[in-house]
Amino acid sequence: KGRPAGTGKGLRFSPVAPVPADVDAVTVPKGWTWSPVVRWGDPLFDDSAEFDPTAQTEESQLGQFGYNCDYLDVLPLDGNRGRRAVAVVNHEYTNEGIMFPPGTDADTVKRVAMAAHGLSVVELRRQAPGRPWEYVRGARLNRRIHVQTPFALTGPAAGSDLLKTADDPVGRTVLGTQNNCAGGTTPWGTVLSGEENFNQYFVANATPENARYGIPSTPGGRAWWTVDPRFDARQPGYENEVNRFGWIVEIDPEDPDSTPVKHTALGRFKHEGASIRIARDGRAVAYSGDDERFDYIYKFVSRRTMQPGNGKKARAHNKTLLTEGDLYVARFEGDSPASEIDGSGDLPADGAFDGTGRWLPLVRDGRSMVAGMGVAEVLVFTRLAADKVGATKMDRPEDIEPNPVTGKVYCALTNNTNRGVGSNPGVDEANPRVTNREGHVIEITEKGNDAASLTFTWNLLLVCGDESSAGTYFGGYDGPVSPISCPDNVAFDSTGQLWVSTDGQPGTIGLDDALHRVTLEGPDRGKVEQFLAVPREAETCGPVIHDRDGLVFVSVQHPGEDGSWADQHSYFPDYVAPGSLSGGRWGGPRPSVVQVHRA
Ligand code: FEO
Ligand code: CA
Ligand code: CA
Ligand code: CA
Repeated sequence: KGRPAGTGKGLRFSPVAPVPADVDAVTVPKGWTWSPVVRWGDPLFDDSAEFDPTAQTEESQLGQFGYNCDYLDVLPLDGNRGRRAVAVVNHEYTNEGIMFPPGTDADTVKRVAMAAHGLSVVELRRQAPGRPWEYVRGARLNRRIHVQTPFALTGPAAGSDLLKTADDPVGRTVLGTQNNCAGGTTPWGTVLSGEENFNQYFVANATPENARYGIPSTPGGRAWWTVDPRFDARQPGYENEVNRFGWIVEIDPEDPDSTPVKHTALGRFKHEGASIRIARDGRAVAYSGDDERFDYIYKFVSRRTMQPGNGKKARAHNKTLLTEGDLYVARFEGDSPASEIDGSGDLPADGAFDGTGRWLPLVRDGRSMVAGMGVAEVLVFTRLAADKVGATKMDRPEDIEPNPVTGKVYCALTNNTNRGVGSNPGVDEANPRVTNREGHVIEITEKGNDAASLTFTWNLLLVCGDESSAGTYFGGYDGPVSPISCPDNVAFDSTGQLWVSTDGQPGTIGLDDALHRVTLEGPDRGKVEQFLAVPREAETCGPVIHDRDGLVFVSVQHPGEDGSWADQHSYFPDYVAPGSLSGGRWGGPRPSVVQVHRA
C-alpha cells in the first residue's frame, strides 16, 4: 500500500514552545493550522441522530462517533491517488461528569456511556492529496463496534472452560469490547486494538486471579451490571465473563460485515495495544505492553508465515496468523553494577542504561512452558504465568512498536511512582529511577535484527522530564530539547523518526500534553522537538504521521475531564459559546480526531 517506508524527507517545522496546562487550545507550529476530522457525536450513518448532548440516547450514540478517541490510523483506500481513506479509531472510556446534564437518569447515562465505548470505522475523503480530510456520513465502510458487537474467540483458549458462560456455553463468542486503548495496523491491512483497563467495569468473586487483574470484588467503578447483568461476574454462570475481556482484538476495516475476533494466543492482560513486525522467515511477531506498574512486555510469534500481496486469498490467510504461535515475556539484564544504579537517574559509569535481554517462553509449540499451568490457563491468566518465570517488572509499558525503517523496537514506559517505595520492587538498569514520575523510552534491538530472535540488546533512549527534573537523558544529545514527560504512544514517520505522545504532563511538569518528534539516528540522536500541544486536561493519542502528505493526525482524548456540566474546562474543538448548540457545534468538550496541516 503506497510507497515503502524510508523514502520520505520528513516534516519541516519549528518546535512549539511548551504550553502551560491551563491553555484550552490545540497549539501547532508557526505556519501550521489544524481542523477536526471527526468529533464525539458526529453522525456516522444516514439515519443517525444529530448530536445533541442534552438528549443523547443509547440509540443515538450507537449511530455516532464515540467518546475518548485513542488509537487511530488513517488507511488509504485508493492507493496513491490520495482522495479516499478510512480511519479506524478506538474509544477508550467516557467522562460522564461532563457528558450529561445534571438530572439525566442513571440508566440513560450508563447506556449512552456504554454505547460510546468501542471503535469507530469512518471513511474520509478530500479533493486532492495534501489537502485536509473530511469524514463521509453514510459511507459504505462506516461502522460502530461496541459492547454488544459479537466477537469470535480464536486460538488455544477458545472453547476452554475458562471462557464459558451461561450465555455462551461453548466459550467461543463474546459480546463486545471495551477500554480499547492503543493498537496497531497489521501488514495485511487489519487493525489490532488492546482491551486495557477492562477490570473497572466488573464486580467478581475474590480469587487470586481476579485480584492479580485488579478486578473488584465489591461493587464500585463503572458498575455496568446495573444495565447489563453479565458484568456482575459473581453470578452463577457468569464467573468467567471477566475472562472474556483483556484481549487483543482484530478488526477488518475493509469488510464492514466481518466478525471481529479476540486472539487468545496473544495472552490476556491490560493490553495497551499490539503492533506487528514480520520476522526474516515471514512469521508475524506481535509486541504488546501490559500497562500496569510493575507489569511486563510480551511478544507473540506466529506459527505460520505471512503470504505476500493483498489478494483475497492472502488476506484471508494472514487474518489467521495471530491464532496460533508462541508467547514470550521479556527479561531485561543490565550491564552495569547494581551499585551504580542508585535510583537518581544519573547514568552509570559506562554512560548508558543498557544491557541484554531474553524472551522467556510462556507457550511454545502448543505447550505450556509454565509449571503447574496448562496452555489455556497461561493464556487466560497470563500475568500469573509471567510472574512465575522471572520476567522484568517494568514502569508501566504503554505503546510498543517496531520502527518500519530500522526494525528497532520502541516502548514507552509512562511512569511508576511506586518504584522503590515501601515494599515495592526497587530500581534496575531498565527502570532506573525511584518514584519514576516522568517515565522513559526503551529501545530494543533484536539479535540479528530478526523479530523472531529470542535474545536482544536494549538501551534507554530517553529518561524523560524537563530541565528541573532529576536524572533526565536525551539519547546523548546535548543541545536544547523540548520538555517531555509521561510518554504513552509511539509512531514513526516515513523517514523512521520516532514520534511520542504524552499522557500526564499537566500533573508532572505543568504543561499541556504534547506530541514530540525524536531524532533516532546521527549526531542529533535524542533531540526532542515538540510539534503540538492538546487542549486543557486532554492527553495526546494515536499520532499518525503522514509526512509525505504534510499531515499529522492526533486523537484528543478527555479534554476538560476535570470539569463538570455546569463548569466545563474545555470548549475544544468547536469553541462556541459555552453551552450553545447550533449547526452541529457545541459549547463543551468533544474528544475528536484532528489533523494538522500547513496554514
Ligand atoms: Fe490507556 Fe495505557 O493508556
Ligand atoms: Ca550500562
Ligand atoms: Ca495509552
Ligand atoms: Ca496512558
